[in-house]
Parts: sequence; C-alpha cells; structure tokens
Amino acid sequence: MGVSASPRRSTEALIGYTPHHDTGSKLVIVMVGLPATGKSYVAKKLSRYLNWLQHKTQVFNVGDRRRSAASNPEAAPNSLLTSGAKLFDPTSPESVSLRDQLAINTLNELLSFLLDSDGNIGILDATNSTSARRQLVLNHIRQRCGEGLRVLFLESRCSDQTIREANIRLKLFGPDYAGKDPEASLADFRDRILHYEKAYEPLGLIEERQGLSFVQMWDAGRKINSHLIRGYILSQIVEYLLNFNLARRQIWLSCNGESLDDMEGRIGRYSDLSDRGLKYASALASFIEEQRQNWSAEPVSGHNPESSQFCVWTSTWPQAIQTGSLFSSETYDQTHTKMLDDLNFGNMSGLTIEQIATQHPNEFAARKRDKLQYRWPGLGGEGYVDLIVRLRPLIVELERTTDHLILITHRAVVRILVTYFLGIHRDDLGEVQMPRDTVYCFDIEPYGISFRPFMYSSELGTFKQVPNSEIPLTVKVTSS
Ligand code: SIN
Repeated sequence: MGVSASPRRSTEALIGYTPHHDTGSKLVIVMVGLPATGKSYVAKKLSRYLNWLQHKTQVFNVGDRRRSAASNPEAAPNSLLTSGAKLFDPTSPESVSLRDQLAINTLNELLSFLLDSDGNIGILDATNSTSARRQLVLNHIRQRCGEGLRVLFLESRCSDQTIREANIRLKLFGPDYAGKDPEASLADFRDRILHYEKAYEPLGLIEERQGLSFVQMWDAGRKINSHLIRGYILSQIVEYLLNFNLARRQIWLSCNGESLDDMEGRIGRYSDLSDRGLKYASALASFIEEQRQNWSAEPVSGHNPESSQFCVWTSTWPQAIQTGSLFSSETYDQTHTKMLDDLNFGNMSGLTIEQIATQHPNEFAARKRDKLQYRWPGLGGEGYVDLIVRLRPLIVELERTTDHLILITHRAVVRILVTYFLGIHRDDLGEVQMPRDTVYCFDIEPYGISFRPFMYSSELGTFKQVPNSEIPLTVKVTSS
C-alpha cells in the first residue's frame, strides 16, 4: 500500500506553514479604534481563526505591556503609568511619548515573533487612533523589516450605543479596574475615552493616498469598508470579518449515534445506526427540543432577527442522517452537507485501529508521530489539515448565520470544530479527546462565547450537563 505524499505540499497555498524566511508572506495587523469598540474581541477572534487555519498568529496588547511596566519591581515605573486617565491626554507631550514608547516596545516583540521565531501573523492590539501614531508604527516596521512585510490596518467602530455602554461597563471587571471602586473607575474610564475622542482620526484618505491596505468595520461586521485587499490571506480575513454578526445563538455539536461499524470499532464507512444509536438519536431530538423551548421562552435580544430558528445540519453519511432524522421537520430545517462528512480514511476505510496497527504498522506509527500532518493513504485519503480546508467555508457560514444550529457529524469533524470554538493550540489538535455520546453547546453572545458539555446516559436515556473540567480536553486553550 503506497504511503501518501506529505500533506504540506498540496495545502500550503491554502492554509498556514508559511516558510519562516519569507517575510513577504508574513503579516502585521494593526488594530485601530477608540476604547470599548470591540478591538480586542475582533483581534482575539481573528487570531483564533487564523491559528485554526494553521497560520501561527499572536495578539500583542499594548495595554498589557503598560500594566506590566507599571508594576515592574525592577525599574522605578514612571508615575504617569499609574495616573489613570491623565496618561491618555493627547495634549500632554510626555503622555503621548510614553504611550508611543510602550506601543513601539510591543511592536518590537511582535516583529521578533515574526522575524526571529516561526510566527506568521502578529496583531498589534492598541488604539493607534491618530495618523501620527500609525505613521510611527509603519515607519518602525519599515525600518526594521524593509518593504517586505505586509501590513493591514483594521479599524473597529461601534455605533450601537447600547453595546458601547455594555462594553464600557465590562471594562470595570477588566485588568485596569477590577477590585477598584466602580464609580471612580467608570468616571476615570469615561475621561480616558474623552481624551481619545478629542484626537481620534479614523482611517481614510491619508492611508488611501499612501497605498496602504485597510479595513474599517462597524458593529463587528454590520458594515465593512475595505481598501487594497490583495492576495489570499487578506481576502480570507475580509471574508471572515464580513460574516461576523452579534446575534445571540446556540451552536450544538454531536457525533452520530453509535453505528453498526462503531460497535466493531470500524472506521470510515457508511453504516446504519445500532439499536443503541437509535435510542441516542431519539434522546437527542427530545433534549434539543427542550433546549429550543427554553430558548424561545427567553426575551429576544436586540440583535436577534425574529426569524432566528433551530436548524439541523448533518453530514451526508447514513449514520449522521439517521441521528438527525427524529427532529420534527415542521420545527427544524434539515440540511445534509458533504462539508460535514467524516474524514476520508482512504485505503484504511472499514478497518479497526487494531487492524491498522498490525497490518500497516508504518502507517500507524506515522500517524502517531504527527496526527495533525498525517494523511490517510489511498484514493481520496484525508488528514486533519485537509479537513480544516474542507471546513473553512463552513466556519464562515457558522459565523454568518443568525440561526441556532445542531450539527450532527463525525468524531474527527467534531474535534476540528471544537478546536475552532475553543481556540485549542494547533500542537494539541490531534490529542483532543472526543468522548462519544457527548453534546457540546457553544452559546454565542455579542462579544463572547461560552461552552457547555452534556453527556448522554444510555441507562436514563437523557443528557446531563457536566462541568467543563470533566471533559478530557487535555490541552491548552489559546484565546477566548
Ligand atoms: C492602553 O494602554 O490601554 C492602550 C494604549 C494605546 O492604545 O496606545
């Protein structure tokens, strides 16, 4: 049986694995925007997506560097660093210069991540709210790296006052104000915003005349303005941002119920559900219906279109279609999509893992060495990297839709989708444990996401929420 070519060769144009020496393929994203307009949310979410696509991405937050400089026990910190809103006064040359220095120090860390280590994309998370600051950042990048390194400015704006106010109040629980008097903190933060507003210069003509690439985004995707978006990665970023929305909704993930093949441990073939699998399918439909009714009883948030409904998406394999077949077609829209099909196990389809280990020890060992890069040999054989490429449009669709979704698919696909939502580090992707008979709920909120696992009890025929710590995702989670 032939061994497959390295999966890198065919996929590097589509996803990560940028050669480290090639600065032209690396990217700096410079965030722009007033405080409490969702910059950090957008930066973290974009970083999670880009990491999931295997572009090694890191967010560098200037506020974090400011806080660590203010509490550095080895250097006498500048008293301005702990002076609250005064540090943000644009008319004070000392304040401007200190904040510029912090921004440049952070930028240097970002550039080292790109140039001296294997980073692909660095995101500078700061206000960068004046043309002068942006010019300083750009000049510094050019000085250190020449014209080769690509730069994208990404401005986040919030015109919805309710959301802005909620963001402002959230800051009281953030690292600058946690544990401090809330009223004084709120007054200080409002002063800081006023300082920024006085000097704010949105992206526009200056950047256009300089031929710079930029994106302006209002209300996390409601409106987008873009300039000079060229090349694969920038288009991927804009496509992703275009599809953001702030609707509250739930995304549920389940593997198919147990199939006849699952009973024998056989992988990668069409198979009908076992009796146990049919019971799971029935319990799943009742459980989700209960959740749907609970949701419908809640007051509708301002961001949810009235038409939001619950939809079932399954793969095209019989075990997944049968698992979704007991949802009432009057209440749930049903879609079967090949994007959710199981991994193609190539020549190994229909074997058990034990048979692969004994009959194909080289394949077994190669997969064990590097589960992420491994591709199953034979016609159509796929690996996790191929699955990421296949699932990329589905992720964009999950971001776009305002409906609630129940995805019924297969273990490898659930693993890849869970790693997207939880921002699991790429080195750990192959090790994420996916216990069968567990349903995952991702509650998508404006500016956040939370995760609840539910386990099925075949004795009781019901699902019970379990603490997140009981789910053996024995891996690091990189971002919110
Ligand atoms: C901060 O210190 O919180 C942000 C600084 C900046 O945007 O320049």
